[in-house]
Amino acid sequence: RGKRAFIAGIADDNGYGWAIAKSLAAAGAEILVGTWVPALNIFETSLRRGKFDESRVLPDGSLMEITKVYPLDAVYDSLEDVPEDVKNNKRYAGSSNWTVKEVAETVKQDFGTIDILVHSLANGPEVSKPLLETSRNGYLAAVSASSYSYVSLLKHFIPIMNPGGSSLSLTYIASERIIPGYGGGMSSAKAALESDTRVLAFEAGRQHKIRVNTISAGPLRSRAAKAIGFIDTMIEYSIANAPLQKELSADEVGNAAAFLASPLASAITGAVIYVDNGLNAMGVGV
Ligand code: NAI
Repeated sequence: RGKRAFIAGIADDNGYGWAIAKSLAAAGAEILVGTWVPALNIFETSLRRGKFDESRVLPDGSLMEITKVYPLDAVYDSLEDVPEDVKNNKRYAGSSNWTVKEVAETVKQDFGTIDILVHSLANGPEVSKPLLETSRNGYLAAVSASSYSYVSLLKHFIPIMNPGGSSLSLTYIASERIIPGYGGGMSSAKAALESDTRVLAFEAGRQHKIRVNTISAGPLRSRAAKAIGFIDTMIEYSIANAPLQKELSADEVGNAAAFLASPLASAITGAVIYVDNGLNAMGVGV
């Protein structure tokens, strides 16, 4: 049987989640997607109308199939956590079962089990503010959406993950080196995500034989990255200074994710894997 993957954090064809889905699909996996509730309508409409067909083409010429798209808001673990104003918000009221616990339950009802869990989502409402100007709420929101969301996803999906399964998130080097402009507590959130990768690898490995890794990716002009405001500068900086002087393509991250999810990586867990043209290894820009 082919493997089944759930990828949280796809709302268009520009981000890392989409590229990971394609690489997994090219390797024969069945693709389930979790899409942020406010972005669900436009994503599903665009899919249905063929807007993504060009970017659905796989190396063998076939089109990637997404078996099912689930509404998801990874900031809420279960229905009891959802505040009234969100429940009544018209962008949310049209969907149901989108808290992490409910999505895992629905996937279980629909398919029984999965083999691969991918977390490709982040959100920091104050990302454009320096850390010294970040509010407590902004900082906690960044960690809730970008770090705890992963703990919660893994916790709720582990019971339906087959032993030998693999789980993966996306991180950024701002967790360990100073990247001015990556503010709002997002650098802190990525540091938490990387530390949690190690602890979760231990717990999920011992209890369920599941591997947990994170990819530290180089800069990509995704929707989320454009919102930060400095992505073009980061891409230029990388091309100028990295050992490999080329623009990073999302597919290169997708292919690394497919490797990490596969039995080829059966002894790799608790790792931060750099897919960044080697920029992390530089000490100075030249
Ligand atoms: P993206 O915009 O394609 O993906 C982010 C996704 O998160 C969006 O689909 C958004 O709808 C979703 N999202 C936000 N809040 C959510 C919530 N509460 N519940 C569910 N979904 C939610 O952008 P990108 O850049 O591909 O981001 C994917 C991951 O890659 C993120 O973890 C990001 O930090 C990471 N990354 C991105 C880099 C870049 O330069 N673009 C560099 C290194 C890491």
